Amino acid sequence: MLNGLKVGNEFLSPGWTNYKRHIQYQEYDITGMLQDSNVIDITVAPGWYSGDFGGNGRTKNYGDQTAVFAEIHIWYGDRKEIIRTDESWKWGVGQTLNSEIYHGETIDHRKQTLCEGEVVPFDIGERKLIAQQSPPVRIINELEARDLIHTPNGETVIDFGQNLSGFVELTIQGKEGMEVLISHGEVLDRDGNFYNGNLRTARAADKFICKEGLQRFRPRFTYHGFRYIKVEGLGTDPSLSWFKACVLSTDMEGTVEFSCSHPLINQLWSNINWGMDGNFVDIPTDCPQRDERLGWTGDAAAFIGTAAQLRDVYLFFRKWLKDLESEQSDEYGIPHIIPNILGERGGAAMWSDSATIIPWTLYQIYGDKEILELQYDSMKRWVDLMERQETPNHLRQTGYQFGDWLAMDTEQIAQWPYGATDPYFIASLFYAYSTQIVSKTAALLGYKKDARRYGELYGKIRKGIQEEYITRTGRLVCETQTACLLALRFDLVPEEHREKVKYRLIENIINHGKKLTTGFIGTPFALHVLTSIGAHDIAGDLLLNEEYPGWLYEVKKGATTIWERWDSMKPDGSFNESGMNSFNHYAFGSIGSWMIEQLAGIGFLEAGYKSIRLKPLFINGLTEVSARRETPYGTLSCSWKCTGGEILIQGSIPVNTTAELHLPEKEEVRHLGSGSFSFRYPTKTDLEQR
Ligand code: BGC
Repeated sequence: MLNGLKVGNEFLSPGWTNYKRHIQYQEYDITGMLQDSNVIDITVAPGWYSGDFGGNGRTKNYGDQTAVFAEIHIWYGDRKEIIRTDESWKWGVGQTLNSEIYHGETIDHRKQTLCEGEVVPFDIGERKLIAQQSPPVRIINELEARDLIHTPNGETVIDFGQNLSGFVELTIQGKEGMEVLISHGEVLDRDGNFYNGNLRTARAADKFICKEGLQRFRPRFTYHGFRYIKVEGLGTDPSLSWFKACVLSTDMEGTVEFSCSHPLINQLWSNINWGMDGNFVDIPTDCPQRDERLGWTGDAAAFIGTAAQLRDVYLFFRKWLKDLESEQSDEYGIPHIIPNILGERGGAAMWSDSATIIPWTLYQIYGDKEILELQYDSMKRWVDLMERQETPNHLRQTGYQFGDWLAMDTEQIAQWPYGATDPYFIASLFYAYSTQIVSKTAALLGYKKDARRYGELYGKIRKGIQEEYITRTGRLVCETQTACLLALRFDLVPEEHREKVKYRLIENIINHGKKLTTGFIGTPFALHVLTSIGAHDIAGDLLLNEEYPGWLYEVKKGATTIWERWDSMKPDGSFNESGMNSFNHYAFGSIGSWMIEQLAGIGFLEAGYKSIRLKPLFINGLTEVSARRETPYGTLSCSWKCTGGEILIQGSIPVNTTAELHLPEKEEVRHLGSGSFSFRYPTKTDLEQR
């Protein structure tokens, strides 16, 4: 704060990095805030560094001392003066009495800050100070309170109408000493009572202690995942206007818009977006509400294809991948969370393959080889480790695996979250996939020897997989939906057997009542694979399915973000009580990329959209889809309508790019240059709007 005003509009600075190696610093221009005489005060809180963080009683992950380092650089034209934090500064306890990311903050407005304590030097040792790497966390949106609810249990609850990450600002005419407690929850239970049982040990409650008069409270070093708050201590019914929800997220530019003729799908799209905002809080977290909020690598790998569509995530992930590389180990590979505070655990399929999948996806979307250059060593080191650990027939059959996390293909999902797909089958397929990515990356970067070496290794793994997991007659040893999806997606099925595996996949989906049973591993690929094998109609049915389990089932249950589990809320309104149940997890929101690429048809032939592929594909149940995406070359849009016996396709192509447009129903490809386009022609299809 400078002269009582907040410097900058950022939250949770300096952000979370691998604090053992590097800590970010931030720069602010304070010229306009200066007066003749100035007072600077800086408040620090435990945060990720020394707070109660990581679950299971973990605390003080990096040290027990909070510290601050600041410099003011003043230019007087011909000379420069630097004022630094040093022993002449004083410290004291201010109005923020305590603050923890999981537990919330206590602010006492009656307190005056008395700074009389001597400061002690803090040695940052080997750690480096580095400039801020990614866009900061800011308030990206503010929501008015929507409803005041008196629950059957007699609680006073306020509904903001949207599950989100952030905090509540309270403006109140206070009485000296009045204590207001605000607790946060994502859902009401089936009786309509306040519920926060899924937050585990996170108390997620802010306590505001009033002075006399009108005042505004805002916690500053914590955030919560919530839609509802329970308010205690007011002694009277509050007015909705006293409360405002401030939405916190890394402030990234939105790059895609999507809408269609189906309201529930538009709500799903909104849920995917809110899920992303709520979990991109400086690092890609799994969830924003319980005692976790960790950078689970598998979740990020599952969602990257959609994340890179929705927002400009390039710098966000470049920062996080730098941490990933710095945490990488030659014994256990890529840790399961980044930054890593869980110790020596790593190596699970997809979680650790984030090291290859994420840079590769960023390259595809942004067309910038820089990210591959930066991550190349890390990508290679991960594949090299898998190679050192492979079986004689080049398979990955070792290490802790999460399987097809949270798949619904076993009855005992609550006790057994790993799904029914053979975990080493998954691990071997991801080994092949990562190796292929490294080989392609080497070729792109001009490392010919490596390209050959990893290309050959990929060939051996592919052969090993075919010998071990695919019978001579073309059956997969494990025939879950996810197993079929991965084998097809990673192109590991011999040509002569592809039809059989496709058949098995479709049969499996139909046997499950046209529902998916896939978990974190299978879901991101599911609809893309179905479309690519000519079963786009089934992909459409899966999207439009409103019954349990499915995307629109959640929407119909009132979801405003994506749930962690297909059965987070069961058809009878009860919750999954396994002790791990979040209503804001983004992995199953990975369907977003399919909505853009296959439904709206916006894709590319060349990384970074230099050369574009527009191939909208209709599904029965939708009559209109419209999408826009920002590419490195400008805005690209495509929308279609199929009503009243005619098809209308229109949009625009950015400058310096070319596009091929596949006209639906016609076996016709039009080659387009930049500018707008529009095609109207009669249709044989009668799409039914559901
Ligand atoms: C997290 C997941 C994560 C998983 C791995 C969970 O607690 O919330 O999203 O990937 O653990 O086991």
